[in-house]
Amino acid sequence: MTAILDIQRSRAEQARLDFVGGLMAFNSTGFGPAMGAYYRENETRLKDPCDIREVGGLMEQGHAYRFGAFFERHNHAQMFRAILDILERQGDEVRAWLDDCNAPGSLGSLELDTQLETPRYYRKIEIHTQPGNYHAEFAGILYHRMISPFLVGRDDGDEMGWNLARAVPQGDYRRILDLGCGVGKSTFPYCELYPDAEVVGLDYAASMLKYGHRLAESRGHKVHFTQRLAEDTGYPDASFDVVSAVWLFHELPGKVRAAVVREAHRLLRPGGIFAIMESPPFKVLQEDFSPLSAFLLDSTGRRMEDPFLPGFLAEDRVRMFEEGGFGLVRDVPLPNELTGWGFGGEYFFGAYPWWATIGVRP
Ligand SMILES: C[S@@+](CC[C@H](N)C(=O)[O-])C[C@H]1O[C@@H](n2cnc3c(N)ncnc32)[C@H](O)[C@@H]1O
Repeated sequence: MTAILDIQRSRAEQARLDFVGGLMAFNSTGFGPAMGAYYRENETRLKDPCDIREVGGLMEQGHAYRFGAFFERHNHAQMFRAILDILERQGDEVRAWLDDCNAPGSLGSLELDTQLETPRYYRKIEIHTQPGNYHAEFAGILYHRMISPFLVGRDDGDEMGWNLARAVPQGDYRRILDLGCGVGKSTFPYCELYPDAEVVGLDYAASMLKYGHRLAESRGHKVHFTQRLAEDTGYPDASFDVVSAVWLFHELPGKVRAAVVREAHRLLRPGGIFAIMESPPFKVLQEDFSPLSAFLLDSTGRRMEDPFLPGFLAEDRVRMFEEGGFGLVRDVPLPNELTGWGFGGEYFFGAYPWWATIGVRP
């Protein structure tokens, strides 16, 4: 097994990382209870039922949300900067490590397409405020290093990916495709659950895939990573048994979401499974959990350069799957270690399940 990059850092760099990482973890768990308490004390001032804008109007009047929103954006910037400073100082070494792919004896592989263009919907934003987006040269390392404190260490065992992989009905699967696989966190569970299957991780961003490939090899997972677009993969019809996507759909414009569903339908053999996982739709949050969570997700989308998140959370996912040709479509709430749903905790955005949508190719 190859080792994962041991990024050298001075004591001062480590101290800065610990400090901003600690603040990030506090942002994720410390503000939620304060915002929840303010909301509960004041919710009688809202109409019943109330919409997202009214909740926003209420929350804007309190210190907890105003400070939390300011803190979220600036803390992310500090976190990314702290990691980037360390990577850029040893840039040549990091670049050489990332480029050292498909080494002899590799379990899996990495297939890059240098001609693939960045999707136009990512050209004018920096998604989640990540500098240079998913396709900047150190994006994979940046994403992996940031996500741990952001998720308060509760996804260090790839829990989100495991949740969806376990929710996929078990079967004798030969080929599994993870769309928008990033650094592979949502892909690796399939290697363990279906050791005889060929597991493919697909992403548009070379930098995510390069790091994912090195991470997979370091963990002994056999994954074939490929640089393609989820909406236009180029694979033959009916060539997969399972197609899945974790946290991809909320980052896509509506027309592209519909195109990805149609592409998944084309790629699956009859009886094949399509499964995605995201936060619950606004309607579910408002009716079954908390209108505050709906507002916080909506506002973070606007604040943190996640421009398609509000449109996606307003969409009926069962209908989206059915319009793409899927049958037996259902929404499945999954345990959520991160927000504490089912675990008694609380998070910046509130406590609610992860939301899987699963359909079958007729
Ligand atoms: C939020 S990350 C999730 C990564 C991974 N699924 C996980 O759960 O850790 C979204 C990923 O989708 C990829 N992505 C976004 N749009 C894409 C597209 N149209 N085609 C392929 N990949 C895409 C991004 O590069 C990024 O790696």
